[in-house]
Amino acid sequence: MIVQIKNLSMNYYTLEGELEVLKNINLTLEEGTILALVGPSGCGKSTIMNILSGLIKPTKGSITINGKMGYMFQKDHLLEWRTIMENIKIGLEIQKKLTDKSLQKIERLLKLYGLWNFRNNYPEELSGGMRQRVALIRTLAINPDILLLDEPFSALDYQTRLLVCDDITKIIKKENKTTIIVTHDIAEAISMADKIAVLSKRPATIKNIHEINLTVKGEKTPLSSREAPEFKDYFNTIWKELDIDEKLL
Ligand SMILES: Nc1ncnc2c1ncn2[C@@H]1O[C@H](COP(=O)(O)OP(=O)(O)OP(=O)(O)O)[C@@H](O)[C@H]1O
Ligand SMILES: [Mg+2]
Repeated sequence: MIVQIKNLSMNYYTLEGELEVLKNINLTLEEGTILALVGPSGCGKSTIMNILSGLIKPTKGSITINGKMGYMFQKDHLLEWRTIMENIKIGLEIQKKLTDKSLQKIERLLKLYGLWNFRNNYPEELSGGMRQRVALIRTLAINPDILLLDEPFSALDYQTRLLVCDDITKIIKKENKTTIIVTHDIAEAISMADKIAVLSKRPATIKNIHEINLTVKGEKTPLSSREAPEFKDYFNTIWKELDIDEKLL
């Protein structure tokens, strides 16, 4: 068990009063697996991620984490005035951990994931998908045990998103990183996760947890997973659980 969340509750206190956001959340995560959090807009998904990363303190409950976290946000937050290499080095620079060994690791990641020839380019010269890969490598460079990804693909158009999701998931699996990903997209969650936690409307509680078992021919990737016969059943079940208000459509 690498992450254990027990009886987690969170209230925000604002000028308008108290806002109950999370209510008694219990979750566990096994090493090397991908957990997806899905839930309605504003239910408290980012709040869970911010608590896990230590950015904010919960009102109640306990969290046990056996390892170091790396956080990747919705926007890639690449610095436009720094080259790709300089962007990737930034986390290590801040932590004063830029050593020969960590530089070798960056070099390996850049070569392995097709960015070596772009190391001296600036972010604006890269495609959206490549920028996302740079953001991931920057997060991997600090050698986290757990990756927190909050809607990492939401800025991309649909086709790019499918490809980038496939690409990023392959990297996460190859590097054997335990991952928590927040997504609005049910199909994306099913295609990449080992486990999906479905959250209710605010205050978020856990409605259900699904272990995802798909029959895939050949290598299991997000794209091949979408062809699995079980895919549609998971989709329909989770869609119903999300309780999407059809009046809003
Ligand atoms: N620092 C804060 N102070 C007060 N209220 C906050 C704060 N951060 C978030 N909220 C509120 O808490 C609720 C949950 O926010 P959160 O960002 O966790 O939801 P989310 O599920 O990530 O939403 P989205 O789907 O839009 O990304 C929202 O109503 C939000 O307005
Ligand atoms: Mg959010």
